[in-house]
Amino acid sequence: MLTIALSKGKLLDPTLEVFRRAGYASPSVMRDSRKLVFPCPEIGVTFLIVRPTDVPTYVEYGAADVGICGKDVLLEQDSDVYEPLDLGFGACKIAVAALRGEGSRNRLSSKIRVATKYPNITEQYFNQRGVPVELIKLYGSIELAPLVGLADRIVDLVETGSTLKAHDLVEVEVIARSTARLIVNRASLKLKHATVTELIRKLRAVGPAKRGIAPRRPSQTVKRARK
Ligand code: PRP
Repeated sequence: MLTIALSKGKLLDPTLEVFRRAGYASPSVMRDSRKLVFPCPEIGVTFLIVRPTDVPTYVEYGAADVGICGKDVLLEQDSDVYEPLDLGFGACKIAVAALRGEGSRNRLSSKIRVATKYPNITEQYFNQRGVPVELIKLYGSIELAPLVGLADRIVDLVETGSTLKAHDLVEVEVIARSTARLIVNRASLKLKHATVTELIRKLRAVGPAKRGIAPRRPSQTVKRARK
């Protein structure tokens, strides 16, 4: 049996769709249930439903053999896992944004306050540019911070851009692009090699989920997520 940690939230539906097309159909109840563990012996898989930011932890420690999460989470956490496959869906950007009219203002010589749920990515980005920042770690609704004077800028995910627009914010710069990735525990890749590589091969063969996502060239080699 393979244990697979899935990200709940936006990635769950396209993930289940890709798995279904690859021959790993899951019970439809997974989408709505409060249950967190779904054994599916008929396909040799147990699915776990976890917070997206917890997926690398489950996989790194071997509580799950395989996981699906966004590249944004991997960039932020620097987890010791393999990242053999870009699934192509869940495309979004990690971007710096500011209130309209403030974005081009040159405040880079003085310390700026940046609110984000990605403190490591944000710190690295501004450090590399020699820009002193005060980081404000938030856990959600990041777009609120500039509106109420909590921060000068934010670093957050931008998918359609509609949340930024709704709060009169503009994208200042793109830090990185993200899509859903398949990650694998280091020991599982050796001990369950045949099962894991079969899963990778089948997922690669079906390509990305259809919902408005452009196909991407799949990764050809198994490589570690750690930078
Ligand atoms: C994410 C992100 C933005 C929004 C971007 O939030 O943090 O707020 O989606 O999407 P858009 O560009 O299509 O508008 P999420 O829904 O995950 O909630 P959160 O802010 O509470 O984390």
